[in-house]
Amino acid sequence: MADYDLVVRGGTVASGLGTMRCDIGIRGGRIVALAESIPGGAATLDAGGLLVLPGGVDTHCHIEEPSRGGYTSAGGAPATEVTVQEESFGSASVSAFAGGTTSVVCFVPQWKGEGILPRLADYEARAARGMVDYSFHQIISDATDDVLEREVPEVVARGIRSLKVFLTYEPLHLSDEAFLKVLVTARRHGCLVTVHCENYAAINWRTEALLKAGLTAPKYHAWSRPPVVEREATHRAIALAELVDQPIQVFHVSCAEAAEEIARAQHRGVKVWGETCPQYLALAAADMDRPGFDGAAYMCSPSPRSAEEQGRVWEMIRRGTLDVVSSDHCGFSMHRPGAGKQAGGTAVPFRDIPNGIPGLAARLPILFSEGVSKGRISLDHFVRLTATNPARLMGLAPRKGAIAIGGDADLALWDPKKKVTITNALMQHAIDYTPYEGLEVTGWPVATVRRGTVVMRDGVVQAEPGTGRFLARGPYDFIAPRGLLPDGFDAAPRLE
Ligand code: URP
Ligand code: ZN
Ligand code: ZN
Repeated sequence: MADYDLVVRGGTVASGLGTMRCDIGIRGGRIVALAESIPGGAATLDAGGLLVLPGGVDTHCHIEEPSRGGYTSAGGAPATEVTVQEESFGSASVSAFAGGTTSVVCFVPQWKGEGILPRLADYEARAARGMVDYSFHQIISDATDDVLEREVPEVVARGIRSLKVFLTYEPLHLSDEAFLKVLVTARRHGCLVTVHCENYAAINWRTEALLKAGLTAPKYHAWSRPPVVEREATHRAIALAELVDQPIQVFHVSCAEAAEEIARAQHRGVKVWGETCPQYLALAAADMDRPGFDGAAYMCSPSPRSAEEQGRVWEMIRRGTLDVVSSDHCGFSMHRPGAGKQAGGTAVPFRDIPNGIPGLAARLPILFSEGVSKGRISLDHFVRLTATNPARLMGLAPRKGAIAIGGDADLALWDPKKKVTITNALMQHAIDYTPYEGLEVTGWPVATVRRGTVVMRDGVVQAEPGTGRFLARGPYDFIAPRGLLPDGFDAAPRLE
């Protein structure tokens, strides 16, 4: 019997803490040897001239997520019909592997007026059909006592350790009171809370004024939600989390003024982390200013900003305030019959167009090219932003996010010199467009290995449906049993 199922030979391994020339011996899906030269192996993968990176860990992906009314702005009439994002776990897995990503964390929906367990069972069945390894955030959009006291413990027992809340969107948003209850519940059960931070009332008010003035085109999406609405909600989310002493991650930070709220809180010792996404580094509000419906292709929330703001977001990445870059992948097509972006037709005001853009396969190439190739960040920093930090924060480390003995053999073999012009075909997703069409990047994944199996080589993805594994997560040990609450409220604070 061979010592190793696979040996990856001749590559330069980037671990997030430095680079070294070394071979990788893999057995039973795990890394079992790292050495300058590893002989033998039942199979070999030549990494000569390539970087060997940990497989990407994308902890913010909307995949095959059924929703009522999609992600539309405040004030819109909530649709009653069900839209399932067009990306299935199968197609998303192909796209993930094409882009060098091997693990995703996506969202179990909750609809207002309903519990969470039936939808969780449905979502578990959908995800089990994919090939990428996966975990879940549990969305809480209706924080009833039954959900928080009976259902959340069950969700936690099933290995889900993050609760996701929205401070905006019709019909998902939570009041401050409901948000506080979720924070307390999360603390009681050792969960992280991830938060979409925008001010619901302010967006609603501005949207109504814009629509009244006849300003309905996609570009007014950006006008409806300027940076201040994100800054305010970020400040409030942090303040409420601080009150409860509950760690949070602020999702998709688009601008420096929101990131500065995070930096200030981190400086005070508050356990808050910040995520950003490629759309805030490579897209701008001006992209939505296209004729007719075309601007909808770039519509996400928070809104893409400006070239100047992109520079400021890079600075907050360099400072370490924003320490995770996720895709926020959303499966809404633009053109084909039944396209998700057209849920309300192509003549509806911006308010009624689903928010969100696809980016699962584009995430690593864009961040590498705009970051490493252009000299904005180091290779190690790139690895930490895209694999190590998200794995750690989501409780997936040490199994995921690193190249280390004992960890899963998830790898992206990367050609740092390869120049590619992004096209939709290269994304290999089920969506009929990419907002990054025509973007030239330097650096591209040439092979992807998931738990020791080569699942992508030179753009060709081969993986058996149903081989993705659920990644159960344990309690967060940094959630201290005592916080700002008086004695007697310690291990299981009850505020009711
Ligand atoms: O526009 C976005 N980001 N859509 C996806 C849902 C969300 O807010 O994360
Ligand atoms: Zn969001
Ligand atoms: Zn999202």
